[in-house]
Amino acid sequence: MDFDKEAAVWDADPRRVKLANEVADAIIREINPAKDMDALDFGCGTGLVTLRLQPLVQSITAVDNSRGMLAVLQDKVEKQGLANVQPRLVDFDRGGKVNGGFHLLVSSMAMHHVEDAAGLCRFWYDLLLPGGWLGFADLDEEDGSFHGDNTGVFHLGFPRPDVQALLSSAGFGEVRISTAASIVRETAGEEPQEYTVFLAVGRKSGK
Ligand SMILES: C[S@@+](CC[C@H](N)C(=O)[O-])C[C@H]1O[C@@H](n2cnc3c(N)ncnc32)[C@H](O)[C@@H]1O
Repeated sequence: MDFDKEAAVWDADPRRVKLANEVADAIIREINPAKDMDALDFGCGTGLVTLRLQPLVQSITAVDNSRGMLAVLQDKVEKQGLANVQPRLVDFDRGGKVNGGFHLLVSSMAMHHVEDAAGLCRFWYDLLLPGGWLGFADLDEEDGSFHGDNTGVFHLGFPRPDVQALLSSAGFGEVRISTAASIVRETAGEEPQEYTVFLAVGRKSGK
């Protein structure tokens, strides 16, 4: 998927907006973000999840490796005069760096586009302060039909035991996984197909 090309029409698909809202609702329900938290949204895209969390936290840094997606978010930030949202170009695959020190790290539907999932979990862990929370949503294991074209897709979702193992190996404790959303696709003449999205919550030890 070419996210730079998709950026201009990303928010025009109501299914994407619904999914992001359901993921944000699950993060709010499971983690209860607070006004003294500095948050980071990894793979923020056009900021659908970022902007749901923005009023609830002190600040939110929104990182992505697509200039097109970030430009759409930057436009929203300027039009809405949001002083506590910082869009930043960061490419995890190319060793992109972020200054750490976050109380909350969220990510929605980005990890399946990253080859080194274990490395990404360690990257997230290092960015969190002791006691910081992770809320990470992605597809449950799927049969490869979700994207149609799997260019740039490195994982066909994730089995939940693998998510548990990835997060535990990176150092996260208190890991719990729940269902955040369900997407049903109807194609004429075929059985409707359901894809589910999990939310994995984990905590960095300390504090
Ligand atoms: C499916 S989109 C999800 C966007 C947004 N989180 C949402 O829920 O609408 C995945 C996002 O991850 C970003 N992404 C993919 N690989 C990345 C990487 N290596 N570093 C940073 N961002 C990445 C893409 O540019 C894209 O914006």
